[in-house]
Amino acid sequence: MKIAFFNTKSYDKEYFKNVNKESDIELTFFDGTLNCETTELTKGHQGVCVFVNDKLDADVIKSIAEKGVKLIALRCAGFNNVNLEAAQKHNIKVVRVPAYSPSAVAEHALALILTLNRKTHKAYNRVRESNFSLERLTGFNLKGKTVGVIGTGKIGAEFCTNMIGLGCNVIAQDPYPNDDLKSKGVKYMEIQQLLEQSDIISLHCPLTPESKHLINKATIKQMKPGVMLINTSRGALIKTKDAIKGLKKGHIGYLGIDVYEQEEGLFFNDLSENIIQDEDIMRLMSFPNVLITSHQAFFTREALEQIATTTVQNIQDFKEGKPLENEIVPKP
Ligand code: NAI
Repeated sequence: MKIAFFNTKSYDKEYFKNVNKESDIELTFFDGTLNCETTELTKGHQGVCVFVNDKLDADVIKSIAEKGVKLIALRCAGFNNVNLEAAQKHNIKVVRVPAYSPSAVAEHALALILTLNRKTHKAYNRVRESNFSLERLTGFNLKGKTVGVIGTGKIGAEFCTNMIGLGCNVIAQDPYPNDDLKSKGVKYMEIQQLLEQSDIISLHCPLTPESKHLINKATIKQMKPGVMLINTSRGALIKTKDAIKGLKKGHIGYLGIDVYEQEEGLFFNDLSENIIQDEDIMRLMSFPNVLITSHQAFFTREALEQIATTTVQNIQDFKEGKPLENEIVPKP
């Protein structure tokens, strides 16, 4: 079975070649993104393997179906970039990697919090230039602070546990509260109460039509002045322009994001010699209290190994006609 692998990076090749050594699946690695212009590349392949910023809308799916593609193997957990109805209509199965390392993402959210708070990135640069001053490096103790967690699935639950370990008071919002977290002291409440009470808010819910722009002008207004907002989930959970206004007013005291609303074409690429056209990301980068990483929360050795193992297994199961444990279908 031949699989067209899009958005390939050196680490993808390394981990997938290693895991795929024993199998008879043939992977064709392409550097570029799968989109309307690149569907020709899927000719002769029965499946595609894609990542978070490959856009599989109805047109792309129709086009790859015409070329004979029968399987979309996502090498990520989120699937907001795939039109599941279109895939079903064209009889294409969609599989994903539901959990590759919830700890990796939860720990990265914590890294953003600690860096923004204790300004270690600034201290590092200062000391390298023999500037040993502590001026403007003041942080705050995490112990005793209230952390609001939106979405307590696999990643959110790990994050709650980490924050409890640091002595924080953890409050949460999720349509399906987790009893284990409740027994550890996490208090579930309505979103408005959570926004009003949190010193730090961390987003761990998926991007859906309902959660798009969950953080907007109105919800920012409900937050405590000086709040720290962390997003390691999906960029469009935050309405970027409203977050910029919140930062300009000083209402948002810190913003840490690993995902960005218009990250396609920016993240995962070295654009250091390019003229960036996206005004919003340039504005965000200009704030001293904003920390941006380019979708690296998942990026640990353990996660890469798990992504490759599960994806190859998903493809193998499809090839052998076995039940697809990690299949995703549209909501009825
Ligand atoms: P999960 O499916 O285990 O948990 C999601 C939770 O969010 C569920 O408990 C669900 O009930 C809840 N939820 C759904 N809609 C909600 C809403 N509107 N408000 C509050 N809660 C809501 O998913 P998991 O594995 O914890 O991943 C969460 C998200 O993290 C993924 O959807 C993905 O977008 C993102 N992610 C980011 C990565 C990165 O590298 N930055 C890597 C992996 C995932």
